[in-house]
Parts: sequence; structure tokens; C-alpha cells
Amino acid sequence: MKDVRTGSEGQCQRKRVFIRTYGCQMNVYDSDRMADVLRPLGYALADTPEQADLVVLNTCHIREHASEKVYSELGRLRDAKAERRAEGGDLTIAVAGCVAQAEGEEIVKRQPAVDIVVGPQAYHRLPELLAEAARKSALLRAGKRLPGAGVLDTEFPAESKFDHLPSPQGVRAGSAFLSIQEGCDKFCTFCVVPYTRGAEYSRPVSAVLAEARQLVEAGAIELTLLGQNVNAYHGEAPDGSTWSLARLIRELAEIEGVARLRYTTSHPRDMDDDLIRAHGDVPQLMPYLHLPVQSGSDRILEAMNRRHGRDLFLGIVDRLRGVRPDLALSSDFIVGFPGESDADFDDTMRLIDQVGFASAFSFKYSRRPGTPGAALQDQVPESVKSARLAALQALLGRQAREFNTSKVGATVPVLFAEAGRKPGQIIGKTPWLQSVYAEGNPRLIGRIVDVRLIEGHPNSLAGEIVTGPYEVAA
Ligand code: 5AD
Ligand code: SF4
Repeated sequence: MKDVRTGSEGQCQRKRVFIRTYGCQMNVYDSDRMADVLRPLGYALADTPEQADLVVLNTCHIREHASEKVYSELGRLRDAKAERRAEGGDLTIAVAGCVAQAEGEEIVKRQPAVDIVVGPQAYHRLPELLAEAARKSALLRAGKRLPGAGVLDTEFPAESKFDHLPSPQGVRAGSAFLSIQEGCDKFCTFCVVPYTRGAEYSRPVSAVLAEARQLVEAGAIELTLLGQNVNAYHGEAPDGSTWSLARLIRELAEIEGVARLRYTTSHPRDMDDDLIRAHGDVPQLMPYLHLPVQSGSDRILEAMNRRHGRDLFLGIVDRLRGVRPDLALSSDFIVGFPGESDADFDDTMRLIDQVGFASAFSFKYSRRPGTPGAALQDQVPESVKSARLAALQALLGRQAREFNTSKVGATVPVLFAEAGRKPGQIIGKTPWLQSVYAEGNPRLIGRIVDVRLIEGHPNSLAGEIVTGPYEVAA
């Protein structure tokens, strides 16, 4: 059977796009939005690059390893494209995301098979970019000489891409991301985000509320508010006033059907009093917070330009636990920032001991070209970084396991999100963002169900469903 939706002139052929997402949740959100932009052009989602006419790599530039993975994938796609062309077909390759923004034309130079390079602020222009790429490709095939291959858009346009993107379609199993803020003005000395995502921008309140309502109508019961600096949110309200994240959360909690609210990623400097209070008095706000601290050493925090010391972070943790004693904390850590001594690293280990984290992400410092950190003397040797990372991860791993086992025996609401690997098993999340697997009917996916937790592991828990109309697997 031919997979064709014919228009009268046969232009409406069904095409397929495969989007590979690297990096953070912001990119996951952006990938969904790119799929939304491409759908009206006739693109359905493909499950593999082999099935696709267009492959989009939505890239991450945060650490060197992340960027390098993109280039090896592009090498594979170049070969696939050559094979297609030999068979009379074609494959369009687009690079999106932060590598696209940071490296722009360099990408096409390094990998000429790339047709489109599009930065995170220009996704609404994908249809035009695709048309231009098709035109260029046709000219090249006709033997025309062109000044350069590839079509590029890495501008930070004055208009917001949010005003030009179609409504989101992506509600997965009751849970949806909602991007409310982008970019960052903090300029931590290790970080590329202020350069790849640009200046901080908050979406207007009315746009956020409208999108939230749409998502709820489409079946979302959990909303995760996204931004590189989400708690720096300062959106313009219809009456001209400026709303903070706390104010926005209180309003979102009023929307009927919103059972769970989360936000990520935050900066300690922006944890204002009202936001801390909201953790105590907004029941839908889940008792889990990802609050990156990076280091426990005042000296290193200063060198990182984090603009806060260890005590500010510890003070916030105390205040949060004062209003929400069961709050689970997660954080990001970097080991081996230039100049980090054994004593600095010990300060980080002590901070971890003092706080007790439910989960965490930890990284060896990765030197990113163009950031102030890359130019610093006193880079830490790789072997020292590795040893510190291992010690830090061992401690954080113990804490995660302890946190998970501390919940064994409790009955907690779990939002089921997907089928497990074993038949009859489904997987969901507790309020503290722990993964739980249990025997259960797939019809429970997208719903919140009480589960008794029976076993704790480092990264998950086993549970038994105790209520709900579909307890028994059909
Ligand atoms: N090296 C190592 N880790 C980094 N991160 C950001 N930039 C770097 C870098 N150059 C980490 C930080 C940040 C997380 C998203 O990635 O911990 O919070
Ligand atoms: Fe990067 Fe710092 Fe901005 Fe976070 S706050 S995105 S680490 S510059």
C-alpha cells in the first residue's frame, strides 16, 4: 500500500520526521514543538532514522561529551543519506538546539551533509528553512554552483518564537511540560547557556495560562513548568503588573484538573520568600525541588560566579523544610572546576552530608570554549576529577537509596506514565519524583493511583496498587 495522502497535485505526500533529543527537558519540550510545526506540512513521526525523510538532531552543548555525540551521529546520517541518494531517494538532515546555536556554520563545514542548522529561537521558521533547503538541494543536483551548502538560522529574532508556534499537542500519559521562561543572564563561568539560549525571557502570563488550560483539556493532570532559570520568571500580566513564579503557580493551581505542579530548573538566588511559602501552602506543588548548587565551597562558588555562598543555599533548604518537612531535594554538582582543592571538594562532600539529597546529577567540569572558566589557569587533572566524581557519586548514591528505602511501607499516590519492560508492569512517579513499578492494567497510565511501596532500590521502588477501579490486570 502506498503511504500517500494525495492533494490534487500530489504535493501532500505523507512524509516522516525522526527527532533525536539530547540534553535537558527544555529540549524535550522543543522537540515536541518542532513536531507540532512540521505536522501541518504532512510530517508524521518516525520511530527510527531509517524510516524518516527528515532527521532532526536536537542537540545539547552543555558539556563536551554532549557535543561530540552529535558529530558521530551526523557521520552515520551522512552515510545513510549517500545510500538513499544512490537509490534515487533523499534524506534531509537538520541540526537544532544548542550546538546549532553555538557552532552555526561550523557544523556545515565539519559535516557538509547537513542541510539545515536552526537555533532554539527559530523553530517556528522550520517550514521556510525546509523549503529553502529543498530548493538548494534541487539546484545542486542540477549541477548549479552555490556559494555555500546548508541553510542557517541562528538569529535571536526580536519577535518571540512562542507567538509563532502552533498550540502544543504533546500530553504524554497525563503529564506535560510547559515552557514559561528561556535563557539566562547569570553567566556562571562554566556555562554555555547564556550564549546558546540568549538573554532571559519570560512568557506573558496570559500565554502561559492559555497553554496550561489547553494542556489540561488535552488530558494533562501534571504540569512541569520549564525554564533554564525558571524561578527567575517575571511574566507580564494583562493588567501590566509583573508576576513571579510563586504568583503563577498559585494561579495554575486554581485550574480545575491540575493535580500536580512541578518546576525546573531553579537557581538558589531566585528562591524568594513567596516561592518558599508556596511549597507550604499550594497542595498541588509537589514536594520535590531540583535546586542546583554545583559546589559546597564558597571559594569555588565565587569563582563560578554563582553569586551566592554555601550558607545561602543551606538557609533556603532549612526554610523549605520548615514549610514542607517532607520535601525531597535534588541538585547538580560539578567536580574539578579550575582551582578546586581537596579542601574545596571536602566542603562539597560536607554540604551533601548536611543536606541529604534524594537524587542528584553530578559532572566532571568540562571546559567549554568561549566561557570564562575555559581560560582559567589551574585546570584540575582528569584523574583527580574522576576520583572526586566517584567519591561524590558514591555518597549521593547512598543517600538516594536511603531516601527510597525510607518510603518503604508507605502508601503514596503514583502518577502512572508508561508500561514497564515486564508484561503486566506499569511505571509511574511518586510526589517525590521517584520511579515506581507495579503490576497494573495499562489503562491506569495517565492516572494517579494509591500504591503501597514494598521495596527500595537506588533508582526506583517496587509497589503494589492498593486502590482504583482497575486493580487487576485484564
Ligand atoms: N562542565 C560540567 N558540568 C556543567 N554543567 C553546566 N556546564 C558545565 C560544564 N562546563 C552542569 C551544571 C548544570 C547542569 C545542567 O550541567 O551542573 O547545572
Ligand atoms: Fe548556566 Fe548558571 Fe545560567 Fe544555570 S544559572 S543556565 S548554570 S549560567
